[in-house]
Amino acid sequence: MLNVGIIGCGSIARQRHAAEYFRNEHTNIQGVFDLSRPRAEAMANDFGGKVYETAEEMIADPDIDAVSVCVANAFHAPITIAALKSGKHVLCEKPMAITLKDCEDMLAAAKQSGKRLLIDHNQRLTLAHKKAKEILSSGELGRVISFSATFGHKGPEMWSADKSSNTWFFKKNTAAFGSMADLGIHKIDLMRYLIGGNVKNVFSRLATLDKKFSDGTPIEVDDNSVEILTFENGALGTITTSWTHYGEECNASTLYCEKGILKLYHDPKYALQVVYADGTKAHYELDRMQTNDDAQQTTSGVIDLFVDSILSGKPSVLDAEDILNSMRVVFACLDSAEKGRVVEL
Ligand SMILES: NC(=O)c1ccc[n+]([C@@H]2O[C@H](COP(=O)([O-])OP(=O)(O)OC[C@H]3O[C@@H](n4cnc5c(N)ncnc54)[C@H](O)[C@@H]3O)[C@@H](O)[C@H]2O)c1
Repeated sequence: MLNVGIIGCGSIARQRHAAEYFRNEHTNIQGVFDLSRPRAEAMANDFGGKVYETAEEMIADPDIDAVSVCVANAFHAPITIAALKSGKHVLCEKPMAITLKDCEDMLAAAKQSGKRLLIDHNQRLTLAHKKAKEILSSGELGRVISFSATFGHKGPEMWSADKSSNTWFFKKNTAAFGSMADLGIHKIDLMRYLIGGNVKNVFSRLATLDKKFSDGTPIEVDDNSVEILTFENGALGTITTSWTHYGEECNASTLYCEKGILKLYHDPKYALQVVYADGTKAHYELDRMQTNDDAQQTTSGVIDLFVDSILSGKPSVLDAEDILNSMRVVFACLDSAEKGRVVEL
């Protein structure tokens, strides 16, 4: 049995980490911590475990084997590194960290400690994305020539524990990034995973078009973005992100290949559709994309994978080493948006 601790008891901790640890037969929720004591108490009450006084107290507890880091982006790196140095396995939320150096330091700490470090890129685990990986790996559709992917919803202030237009997600000192890194990291990583290989260069445009703090001033980070990615293997495509898709979320990707088209999460019934070059079609009824509107966030499989990877010692698709290369693309996009030109990786 693994004793786990959860640091940060907001929306993702409650809907995914706590719920999935609670259902995993190999884990016991030993305790939780949040800067908001009432939030930590509510989670301990619902899922079990004690409430720690500080993150340091939990990290120093010899009874804890593994820690989930579910706090605001700016605190991912210090908490993750401290936990690894204290001999805990860590599952850290995305985006991995707010600087490239922090990401590299996290990975170095994992290597030094010999403990596992996984990053919660749940999109690699959805059934349609897994099936797409299988189809692309089989060579059935040939190579990916171009792609487009979108992740847009009505904004994190509708989802986060503090439902306020002054949420930490909108501030540079706590979030560091806006929609591009918050949502775009999912699609950047997914395209890297599905297409295979690394990104060669990027062009990115970030904009703050609509979101405002309660005093009417614009938020400090982007609420919309467009990225153009060129892969080393030649694949070219776009990623768009938005926190202003009011009314309906979009989490769809399309990969145009030599022998047909893969359409992911375009249709609520058929999560994956293949349109072959001759016009014939195949429809796969698999799963629904998890959305922020959806209370059914408890089946991502991320926790089970984290636990399996600790118990088996086998590599996993969410190991930080590969996710770090997706973060390199995020930092290149930020650089490109600032400089207004293409940035080579
Ligand atoms: N993998 C995904 O699909 C996904 C989805 C949503 C959020 N996330 C990520 O999860 C993280 C948390 O997001 P959320 O939506 O749960 O936010 P949230 O605002 O609902 O919860 C964050 C919680 O962390 C606490 N907190 C902040 N800093 C802390 C610190 N230093 N120590 C202890 N507690 C601290 C806050 O009090 C709050 O309760 C973010 O990095 C976000 O990007 C990932």
